Amino acid sequence: MLHKNLKPFPKDFLWGSASAAYQVEGAWDEDGKGPSNWDQFVRIPGKTFKGTTGDVAVDHYHRYKEDVQLMAEMGMKAYRFSVAWARIFPQGKGAVNEKGLQFYSDLIDELIKNKIEPILTIYHWDLPQALQDQYGGWESREIVQDFTDYAVTLYKHFGDRVKYWVSLNEQNIFTGLGYRMALHPPGVKNEKLFYQVNHHANLANASAIKEFRKHVPDGKIGPSFAYSPSYAASSKPEDILSAENAEELNAHWWMDIYAWGTYPQAAWNYLAEKGLAPTIENGDFELLKEGKPDFMGVNYYQTTTFEMNPLDGVSEGKMNTSGKKGTSEDTGVPGLFKTVKNEHLERTNWDWNIDPTGLRIGLRRITNRYKLPILISENGLGEYDKLEESDVINDDYRINYLQLHLKAVQEAITDGVDMMGYCTWSFTDLLSWLNGFQKRYGFVYVNQHEEGEHDLRRIKKKSYYWYKEVIETNGRNL
Ligand code: BG6
Repeated sequence: MLHKNLKPFPKDFLWGSASAAYQVEGAWDEDGKGPSNWDQFVRIPGKTFKGTTGDVAVDHYHRYKEDVQLMAEMGMKAYRFSVAWARIFPQGKGAVNEKGLQFYSDLIDELIKNKIEPILTIYHWDLPQALQDQYGGWESREIVQDFTDYAVTLYKHFGDRVKYWVSLNEQNIFTGLGYRMALHPPGVKNEKLFYQVNHHANLANASAIKEFRKHVPDGKIGPSFAYSPSYAASSKPEDILSAENAEELNAHWWMDIYAWGTYPQAAWNYLAEKGLAPTIENGDFELLKEGKPDFMGVNYYQTTTFEMNPLDGVSEGKMNTSGKKGTSEDTGVPGLFKTVKNEHLERTNWDWNIDPTGLRIGLRRITNRYKLPILISENGLGEYDKLEESDVINDDYRINYLQLHLKAVQEAITDGVDMMGYCTWSFTDLLSWLNGFQKRYGFVYVNQHEEGEHDLRRIKKKSYYWYKEVIETNGRNL
């Protein structure tokens, strides 16, 4: 659809940015915080780019007031941040750490004082290591109760002030990289376990949402799904089918459960046949149906293009975590699909496709299938930034990226998508899990690097001023 005129962004549109505790906070063992799975994983040699850790990250734990001040000066309407579970429950459960609660309470107050809506993510990948040690973390059903108790603690303490909540961040990514590709903790490759772990996460998500209704009746909650819409490489029917396979196994497998409490049929049959489908217990589907979200959170970075993959085809490809363009390899599932390079799209230095239209397509697909409002909980460009003389960063490429994606959002709104808000990834630069500090996403440069000690000072990039104006004009000046 080519629109002559685009609808304006809604009046109360949440113009925001997002972050995650492990990637910004630092203070990894301060004020009673327990160790997380990431604190442990990054200490294994060779796991992260140049051995980077979040021990200090960008020191947001100590500098949150300065960061909120920068947000306020920009006029930001919303800030999405996550709570480190191990700050609240150092052992994952049991005794609460009051100092951990205090930190987030202060951050929330600071945001509200500055007219910034807090969007709280309950889980952004940093699991208390104690739970991993005790029962394998997400591998056991025990986590459903512990996760629910943790969530309820947050509802009780912050539900009066926080009205927007994200339950699980990118369940598809933390389970996939953790249990399929062994790139995230606990570093396992086990297809069967991957589907079981996911089922437990689905139950935990539903159980936490169910409890949310009792404690924060006037709030809104949803998961954030990492959605990479699938394209077919050609009009060959088998390629179209491969893209359908990918959409069903890579997207519907999660979003159908969130929205409807059911797994998609063809994917279920395929996995059951292979002995990979998760074990379901009595009452599971009832619980899943009781945990319906208020919105679908969407983290969008790119689309993926597929062709058919023969039964003896590729199954493993390398991810580009070095920032050397062209070093990623295609991957797939034999008999289902195989990724191929989309020649129509530019790629970043980390080989991520740049595709604003893909965002619009994804938003429309979700709207048509689930009829839920959508919060874009992440979108952004990870690139090298150059700090020039007199502390200037000319990140025109980031402005261009965000501008095109926001235009796609506005087109989607014009198409009829119910959009709640848009959070860029990220506000300040932060630690990219596997890519160190050189892959930068922020509006605010942080003087932090992989090696050596740095002063962590904050410097506004050109994009900072651009987004400020976008917000001021409610998106009229993109
Ligand atoms: C999302 C995550 O997957 O993408 C973020 O929710 C992450 O935590 C972001 O940082 C960008 O990914 P990366 O690998 O470039 O840091």
